Amino acid sequence: MENKTILAIFISVFLSTLVYQTFANKQFHALSQLYNAKLSKVSIVNTSYFETPNGLHKAKVVLPQNGQKANDKISKLPGQPYVEFNQYGGYVTVDESAGRAFYYYFVEAEKSKESLPLLLWLNGGPGCSSLAYGAMQELGPFRINSDGKTLYKNQFSWNRAANILFVESPAGVGFSYSNKSSDYETGGDKATAADNYVFLLNWLERFPEYKDREFYIAGESYAGHYVPQLAQTIVYYNLKLNKTLINLKGILIGNPTLNDETDLKGMIDYFGSHAIISDETVFAIRKYCNFSPNADTQSDKCIEAAEDIGYNIQVIDVYNIYAPLCFDGNLTKNPKKTSWRNFDPCSDFYTHAYMNRQDVQEALHANVTKLGHDWEACGGALRGWIDSSSTVLPLLKEFAKYKLRVWIFSGDIDARVPITSTKYSVSAMKLPVKTKWHPWFHQGEVAGYAQVYKGDLTLATVREAGHQVPSYQPKRALALVNHFLSGKPLVESSRR
Ligand SMILES: *[C@@H]1O[C@H](CO)[C@@H](O)[C@H](O)[C@H]1NC(C)=O
Ligand SMILES: *[C@@H]1O[C@H](CO)[C@@H](O)[C@H](O)[C@H]1NC(C)=O
Ligand SMILES: *[C@@H]1O[C@H](CO)[C@@H](O)[C@H](O)[C@H]1NC(C)=O
Ligand SMILES: *[C@@H]1O[C@H](CO)[C@@H](O)[C@H](O)[C@H]1NC(C)=O
Ligand SMILES: *[C@@H]1O[C@H](CO)[C@@H](O)[C@H](O)[C@H]1NC(C)=O
Repeated sequence: MENKTILAIFISVFLSTLVYQTFANKQFHALSQLYNAKLSKVSIVNTSYFETPNGLHKAKVVLPQNGQKANDKISKLPGQPYVEFNQYGGYVTVDESAGRAFYYYFVEAEKSKESLPLLLWLNGGPGCSSLAYGAMQELGPFRINSDGKTLYKNQFSWNRAANILFVESPAGVGFSYSNKSSDYETGGDKATAADNYVFLLNWLERFPEYKDREFYIAGESYAGHYVPQLAQTIVYYNLKLNKTLINLKGILIGNPTLNDETDLKGMIDYFGSHAIISDETVFAIRKYCNFSPNADTQSDKCIEAAEDIGYNIQVIDVYNIYAPLCFDGNLTKNPKKTSWRNFDPCSDFYTHAYMNRQDVQEALHANVTKLGHDWEACGGALRGWIDSSSTVLPLLKEFAKYKLRVWIFSGDIDARVPITSTKYSVSAMKLPVKTKWHPWFHQGEVAGYAQVYKGDLTLATVREAGHQVPSYQPKRALALVNHFLSGKPLVESSRR
């Protein structure tokens, strides 16, 4: 065991024992593959990276976008019900010399698109697609039926609250690609932040009516890195150029990876407190494992305890500990009956089938270069991850200075990046409390709990939601994003 932090060990141990081939576990697979790559620990607070040729290129980063918007308009997706809002999809070049381009899918707001804000959504992984999860299984306007070819409307889509931009990032994820294949080996936090930033500048050039719009970035899981790191890049260049290039107002992150040490400690404690592992295993982990992000090796007793965890969690969905598993991912001839209350655990299979259809790719203006691999929800062509910040807490703290709104939400039945981890991470920031822990309500019921800190940081739970909060609690998630965007505190009273 050399050169492995405790996080890397947990991920590889969980994996070796994960037998259920659900697509959800692909998120683990993608992680493990990438974490086995050599990691350099960086302080992402160091912005000078973006000045180097490997970060933001010295070459002109904003290319002409004339006529592209009209080409990107999606007339209709295969199997789609009638809707009144506009959809766009296409590629934005983020590096001309390498031939690197990001795929985006953009849905305008159902109503008042001219006045509602612009919200960018990023999924994590690293290596998971914002189309697979965000757009098609969480907060997008459509969900895919079990026939793998027709869509139904998500009545709690976030495009009731904002214009929503989904991006597959970095290159190698979903339809996003690079013609320089070595880019797939050198994914990382820094390169992703720089590419996401260049993507945005070019996208805004293509959609100039959104240039001055209030802009928010949201995301989940490993996007707990992407979102603050992109926000930091935006703030940095706005300051440096003394010009609001991008009108960023705030960030919203769900079940986010924030700080390796507390993330891991919280995960073990969650497993223990939810009777998934024994107290003996919890104590063994605490006693024998080295939680430091700089730890290179772990003792045999630590590894033995980690194997105990693998044995006990392999039989459940760690992303929602009470969810049913998918036992039959086969498509059905006729769509199964759907209900927003019961998320279908086999949805990943329907998504995979739909996104790999040629008629769908044509309608989306995706895969125009005929890539040599299938579209995958996680993993894709990405092969390596060379830098991962061990913490983003200093960034979250810094945002208060720039008056950015920071909201962190947490589905409380996720065990992968659980509420215990998020609580420990937020505590580690040592912010003064403005409004103490309280229930928040939606339609008369407790929708979760929240605490507000000075400097405009809110921590809110979403009751009975797994890792992908809008999949499991779409109504509560929409209420949450509405509050976030309007800057109104979550409702403390049970009156409707
Ligand atoms: C910041 O990053 C640059 C470029 O990556 C590097 O040369 C420099 O040493 C870093 N500075 C600090 C203080 O880490
Ligand atoms: C990648 O290569 C293909 C084939 O040569 C080309 O059509 C495409 O424009 C290139 N992509 C980028 C972003 O330059
Ligand atoms: C920044 O721009 C504003 C006007 O947009 C100007 O008043 C101010 O002097 C500028 N500051 C610097 C440091 O250039
Ligand atoms: C799924 O389809 C395959 C191929 O038709 C079949 O062999 C398998 O039994 C099906 N699975 C289930 C659980 O019905
Ligand atoms: C792109 O298209 C090719 C040819 O149709 C197909 O084999 C491949 O699976 C597709 N890749 C993606 C990422 O959609």
